[in-house]
Amino acid sequence: MAPPAPGLDPRSLLGLFLFRLLLLLPPTAGEGGQGPVPRVKYLAGDGRRALSLFHQKGLQDFDTLLLSADGGTLYVGVREAVLALDIRDPGVPQLKSMIPWPASDKKKRECAFKKNNETQCFNFIRVLVSLNATHLYACGTFAFSPACTFIELKDSHLLPISEDKVVEGKGQSPFDPTHKHTAVLVDGTLYSGTMNNFLGNEPILIRTLGPQPVLKTDTFLLWLQPDASFVAAIPSTQVVYFFFEETASEFEFFDKLRTSRVARVCKNDVGGERLLQKKWTTFLKAQLLCTEPGQLPFNVIRHAVLLPANFSSDQHVYAVFTSQWQIGGTRSSAVCAFSLKDIKRAFEGKYKELNKETSRWTTHGVPDDISPRPGSCSVGPSSDKALTFMKAHFLMDEQVVGTPLLVKSGVEYTRLAVEAAQDLDGHSHLVMYLGTSEFLAVPNSILELPCPHLSALASYHWGQGSAPAPRASSVVYNGSLLLVLRDGAGGLYQCWATENGFSYPVVSYWVDSQDQPLALAPDLAGIPRERVEAPLTRVGGGAALAAQRSYWPHFLTVTVLLALVLSGALILLLVAPLGALRGRGKVQGCGTLPPGEKAPLSREQHLPPPNDHRTAASSVGADSDHLGTEVV
Ligand SMILES: *[C@@H]1O[C@H](CO)[C@@H](O)[C@H](O)[C@H]1NC(C)=O
Ligand SMILES: *[C@@H]1O[C@H](CO)[C@@H](O)[C@H](O)[C@H]1NC(C)=O
Ligand SMILES: *[C@@H]1O[C@H](CO)[C@@H](O)[C@H](O)[C@H]1NC(C)=O
Repeated sequence: MAPPAPGLDPRSLLGLFLFRLLLLLPPTAGEGGQGPVPRVKYLAGDGRRALSLFHQKGLQDFDTLLLSADGGTLYVGVREAVLALDIRDPGVPQLKSMIPWPASDKKKRECAFKKNNETQCFNFIRVLVSLNATHLYACGTFAFSPACTFIELKDSHLLPISEDKVVEGKGQSPFDPTHKHTAVLVDGTLYSGTMNNFLGNEPILIRTLGPQPVLKTDTFLLWLQPDASFVAAIPSTQVVYFFFEETASEFEFFDKLRTSRVARVCKNDVGGERLLQKKWTTFLKAQLLCTEPGQLPFNVIRHAVLLPANFSSDQHVYAVFTSQWQIGGTRSSAVCAFSLKDIKRAFEGKYKELNKETSRWTTHGVPDDISPRPGSCSVGPSSDKALTFMKAHFLMDEQVVGTPLLVKSGVEYTRLAVEAAQDLDGHSHLVMYLGTSEFLAVPNSILELPCPHLSALASYHWGQGSAPAPRASSVVYNGSLLLVLRDGAGGLYQCWATENGFSYPVVSYWVDSQDQPLALAPDLAGIPRERVEAPLTRVGGGAALAAQRSYWPHFLTVTVLLALVLSGALILLLVAPLGALRGRGKVQGCGTLPPGEKAPLSREQHLPPPNDHRTAASSVGADSDHLGTEVV
């Protein structure tokens, strides 16, 4: 059985780049509502995790991870550098060594003609694999001109890369850092799937390194659609499976329908002699289905892993999917399990065939006059007849149907890892680690600012001072504002509730940063000073989590309700002059604070006298009085 792809080990997911990691014991799918609740939920940098956040000034895009065989060193491909981190002890990983690997000045200059020199013309590391005991192999985008190199190790320290050791890496790393790719090393041979050109419309599956001939997919035969996007490569005994998504061509009624696929190539493929020279002769692909009744199909695969342990007699691939469509702006995700037996069976079944005249796909049976079966991993040269057949029959007729294990709305999972765990009774359970990321441009840290939704009828929005929250560096997730901490991120953030035309800040946060010291912030103009300084949570620069909130709205609710009750009582009591006197006394008392409520906001001067409350409740235009929101 093959090991999991490097870098997918749950431990390696812990520290560096995942913003959220969720630990789930999968309950039965379809529990209604939002779906099952993760057992444990972590933010990046959470102190409860074994590894916390490593960051260092000048280092960014911690994209590629590789765990050493002994588990003590984490190699990390960052923008223009490769790092070795010591992760033997819990806490912040220690930097053991760092070697720069920038794109050359020449390539950067060429790149800057067509691409953004501030964001794209760098060497983003995309492939990092362990070749043997003394060498790593790395590939990067190299300013839109992919390059690869061997990196020598000495006691798991990295030795510098000499420029003459850098070779072309087309087909192994994408050109564009935003393009997906996958690579897996099997017995010294690298199988990779990525985009093979500058424009990003020529996907390729390629075999390189190792003793066997270099083999590629054929571009002109359209074995892969121009937008194919690879998410995982999983080796098995005889074959290597690739997981990807692409626009489907076989469903004539749908335009731009995305579909998830598994493709496979035989490890012992040597390419054709006359036909399909230096091309795969065993490339086949099949559709993956991950659906749950009553839900939109989860047709976009994001990541796939093989369960490494002997969890059940039949091995399964676990894959996380999202949907091309959204209901009411809500994303949803699903995890499906695919049996390797089912995948194999699809590749042993009938084919689909494109009728060139009608442009329709039809079913084609297994040819009984060609033996061994075309595309099978049989040894020996294939006949021209078999290869001619393979050129046109690369899509299998049968779909591989997955079992949905988890369906959850309101979240977009992008990565997963799985492992088997035994409970005290000796029963095996599957544990899933699911990562989400709303940004993997990977920031140094993200701050979550929660917003309590006190009224289900109100609509909520976030603002930075008087402006809307910056879209480039923040996103609203489950009501919370997730803020990327970078230069210029400091300042006042407020969650506003609006109901029946009234607005008030439910919660206010001051995010401290050197570039915007509190006292000088222009954002504070127009906001009464004491309302700013007292209640706001001061947050340091790093990965601290701001969780404190203002109790102002609770206080208002209580105050207003009390005032209404007492005012009602007042009307009744007006009958008796003595009663009226008593009642007035009580209402007046309400304007001053009960001692226990002395919390966040300084409110004395903002609380109108109680008899004003009733006016606000009935006069909708009174926007100077926030209390109307609470009452109506
Ligand atoms: C990008 O190009 C501009 C203009 O030539 C230059 O000022 C800037 O320093 C360049 N940025 C980088 C990161 O090279
Ligand atoms: C590891 O691979 C590199 C590159 O192919 C080679 O130079 C080196 O000799 C190999 N080392 C061992 C110990 O096999
Ligand atoms: C793996 O699974 C097979 C089939 O269920 C079983 O016979 C075998 O004992 C298992 N091996 C281990 C190490 O659990």
